[in-house]
Amino acid sequence: MNNNPIGIFDSGVGGLSVFSQMIQLLPNEHYIYFGDTINLPYGSKTQDQLINITSNIFNFFESKNVKAVIMACNTTSALTYDILKNKYNFKIYPIVQRVVKQIANKHYNRVGVFATEATINSHAYKKEFLKYSPNTEIFEIASSKWVNIVENGLQDQPDSINNIKLQLDLMLKNNIDKIILGCTHYPYLINILNKFAPEELFINPAIYFAQDIYKDLKENNLLSSNQDYNAKFYVSSKPSQFMSSSKLFYDVKNAEEITITKALVNLSEKISQ
Ligand code: DGL
Repeated sequence: MNNNPIGIFDSGVGGLSVFSQMIQLLPNEHYIYFGDTINLPYGSKTQDQLINITSNIFNFFESKNVKAVIMACNTTSALTYDILKNKYNFKIYPIVQRVVKQIANKHYNRVGVFATEATINSHAYKKEFLKYSPNTEIFEIASSKWVNIVENGLQDQPDSINNIKLQLDLMLKNNIDKIILGCTHYPYLINILNKFAPEELFINPAIYFAQDIYKDLKENNLLSSNQDYNAKFYVSSKPSQFMSSSKLFYDVKNAEEITITKALVNLSEKISQ
């Protein structure tokens, strides 16, 4: 069991910001990464759609005999974890819940969260902070365009930079102590964010998340005795775009296209039909 692989998924390259931390802390595990690029962005999907998608991904990982699944995606952690958490035999690590538990004990006064529309509308960050640090004020902003900026490698375009600066200015008006990059795609934008605000203002949850997973696997005697790590990458569409956008956190050399999730229509597209 201990040498069985660890599954990790996101809608695209975002989860690689978590994966890159995992391989530093756990360099002798076997990983299976799934990027659900056909359904990107998750942030404009409904909860029912996200449950459908996440169940299919969990079933896929179950067929691969994983010992654990890392939900390297804030949106599915926020909207599907509570519903699916008891349906599988492997350990499931949801990013929002595991990370807030650690950050909250710092008892910051004013915390900002940038995340996808679905995560923000669920108020998952606010709810989790309320459990451990009720006096922390949470300021939530949906930065819906940022996922596409990252997936399409548009970080350096003037329009992208303008959009990032606008959202950041809006957030900074609240006299914030820390800003959580509450979507795994957003750490890809750290160089741009740092142009307008100091690096120490931002929290990349992937760092806390990987440490927490490491600790938990260790406590549960689930660490592997493999000699080295290996990783297999799967995507549900556009493997070459995935590989070219991946580079900042992990240079994926080979991604295989597989069909385990159906392409679902975005909420915004449904409304305009
Ligand atoms: N990177 C994911 C997250 O952390 C999903 C982004 C999206 O596809 O909208 O929420």
